[in-house]
Amino acid sequence: MTSPELLERIRLHGQIPRHVAIIMDGNGRWAKQRSLPRAAGHKKGMTAVRESVEGALDAGIEILTLFAFSTENWQRPRSEVLALMGLLRRYVAKETRKLKEQDCEVHVLGDLDALDQSTRESVEYMTSETAGGMAMRLNLMISYSGRAEILRACRKMMEQVASGELALEEFDEETFEGALFTEGLPDPDLLIRTSDEFRLSNFMLWQVAYTELHIASVLWPDFSREDLFRAVLDYQERDRRFGRVTVG
Ligand code: FPP
Repeated sequence: MTSPELLERIRLHGQIPRHVAIIMDGNGRWAKQRSLPRAAGHKKGMTAVRESVEGALDAGIEILTLFAFSTENWQRPRSEVLALMGLLRRYVAKETRKLKEQDCEVHVLGDLDALDQSTRESVEYMTSETAGGMAMRLNLMISYSGRAEILRACRKMMEQVASGELALEEFDEETFEGALFTEGLPDPDLLIRTSDEFRLSNFMLWQVAYTELHIASVLWPDFSREDLFRAVLDYQERDRRFGRVTVG
């Protein structure tokens, strides 16, 4: 099925997920299959990021969250980390204008203090340039891990309790969610992971409690908007019960 046909089908078929998150995996394997350095896979992965943004806009997805760099990724060889940071700056230089034109608001979520100054300034530039975009919110998760996010939120709330700003009885799911990077956002409805890996890899551990999972066999650099639409079609077949039973 072609891209417009798939798009038509998901529009007619059912509900479009409001929030889609993606674990972009397989860049290294894509490069290895072609006897290229791993960085070449990451570079090609950037075109797949564009594809997924275009596809998400076409489908009317409100929030797209991409796992671009994990806390654990800092342990990769220095050359690869530098290549990924360079790509991130390049992404900002190449895509900010386009994202702004497309009315996308970009947020970069994670431990940004760990970034070098020029990369941090670069992502801050993209965030401020795109602020107020109404068509879609794009979250780039960088230097991010789910456990670290949960600990950070706990620490924040414990400080508030210690200072008397928050009563212990008010420490509940709602206030806790307000202390996460994803404050104010609905949980992902759909989580896509590419390259046939069935793992969460420390991604949005709190937020994916009731998220539908879609594992795609395509390696991330080859991910296209058609793959996104197929994932949405798969999602539309699911019976979401949130721990309850289906009525009727
Ligand atoms: C996982 O593949 C991917 C990453 C660690 C980085 C993701 C980065 C990009 C898609 C490009 C840049 C994106 C932006 C937004 C600037 P892997 O290296 O773990 O692949 P492997 O499992 O095959 O080794």
